[in-house]
Amino acid sequence: MSSLPDAKLLPEADSSVLQIWGGHPLRGHIKVSGAKNSALVLMAGALLCSEDCRIRNVPLLADVERMGQVLSALGVSLERNGDILDINARDFSTSKAPYELVTQLRASFFAIGAILARLGVAQMPLPGGCAIGARPVDLHVRGLQAMGAEVQIEHGICNAHVLSSDGRLKGAKIYLDSPSVGATETLMMAATLADGETILDNAAREPEVVDLANFCNSMGAKIQGAGTSTITIQGVRKLHSTDYTVIPDRIEAGTFLVAGAITRSDLLLSPVVPEHLLPVIFKLQEMGVPIVEEAPNSLRILPADTLKAADIETLPHPGFPTDMQAPFMALLAVAEGDSLINETVFENRLRHASELNRLGADIRVKGNIAFVRGVPLLSGAPVLGSDLRAAAALVVAGLAASGKTTIKGLQFLDRGYDRLDLKLQQVGAKIQRLGETGTDAELIENGNNSASVST
Ligand code: UD1
Repeated sequence: MSSLPDAKLLPEADSSVLQIWGGHPLRGHIKVSGAKNSALVLMAGALLCSEDCRIRNVPLLADVERMGQVLSALGVSLERNGDILDINARDFSTSKAPYELVTQLRASFFAIGAILARLGVAQMPLPGGCAIGARPVDLHVRGLQAMGAEVQIEHGICNAHVLSSDGRLKGAKIYLDSPSVGATETLMMAATLADGETILDNAAREPEVVDLANFCNSMGAKIQGAGTSTITIQGVRKLHSTDYTVIPDRIEAGTFLVAGAITRSDLLLSPVVPEHLLPVIFKLQEMGVPIVEEAPNSLRILPADTLKAADIETLPHPGFPTDMQAPFMALLAVAEGDSLINETVFENRLRHASELNRLGADIRVKGNIAFVRGVPLLSGAPVLGSDLRAAAALVVAGLAASGKTTIKGLQFLDRGYDRLDLKLQQVGAKIQRLGETGTDAELIENGNNSASVST
């Protein structure tokens, strides 16, 4: 039996809107949830083990719910209790992942490595996720081929099977043309149960990659070097049960820092891992925003006298994260002076510029570069979030804009932010989730019982 009861707490996002009355400073403490991109890939990693896996600090997100449905369809049992997710993949025997679900969620494709490692065969639809670029999977495919799998893409499905007679992938030396997060994770999971040693060169160094390695090692895998460009994996035959806690979400924390900066607020965020947020913290400090580490796992942001313009270039970790680019564009829109944003990771990730302009920003886009001329004040308007982080950028902008901002596209927001509106409400933001017309003033009950925020 599979069940994810808490996911029912999620509101029907696509039929609702967020209304924000901007211009109010925020104050208090926000509890940061577990990292979306870790939780999703740890769920895929649980496929590698036939014993009980307990994952703690799992955020309440539409993407987590969907990933649970993907695993469920593969024959895995799941039980969610608050932020604890118990997964048991003992009876996992289905190698074909459901098309409708995988096409909605890119991270579910990363499970191909674990499915292939456990079953020797996998049929995985090509992934979906936010429309921010072509997002191919060639690096995943080439890596699996190097490990002894035959992989063919036909009719939108990636069909893979292990060629060796014992059904095990073989360790290999793999160089990634670019340090893809997903390809590093797919191949790391595949190599965990492979025969022999795998070396991944030019691997992604993101904290979520390290979290996956730590999770797999907690089950008996032998992975070294995660967090550097070279990851070495000694294949083992079997993994054992684990009880593991997901790292805090650096992008959620970064979004709250930007929300604090744009509203000139005094906010305390915890738990966070400050090293994971260094590019964000330094950029905010460069813009004149005071940020202090109050305790080892918390950050306090204080009101800035003036917000200064700054340039941003997105890069793989430890460079400035592409997932923070959209919220920063909202902040730079009200900074003093001209800023330049160069998006180098995804080729189509500046679509929020036009919606920010609807709020009174002065942003011109040419190719992957946005020129932002700071304006003194944004003014509220109806806007549409085109992807997850774009929707977050509009929330941040709405918090600072004069008057009322109405945001559609919450199905994107709810993919990756754990009750963002509720957390902001509890630190004083005037934000409400309404039915689509905006006339029914009922606040959707999205998990008020979780006590995930304290002010
Ligand atoms: C992950 C994150 C996403 C984040 C991104 C970059 C998850 C679920 N998502 O996405 O939030 O924005 O990292 O930090 O963890 N590429 C190829 N071939 C491939 C794979 C990727 O060309 O086989 C390209 C992509 O098109 C993109 C770049 O590499 O231009 C980076 O993508 P990648 O690091 O793979 O991002 P994701 O893992 O999809």
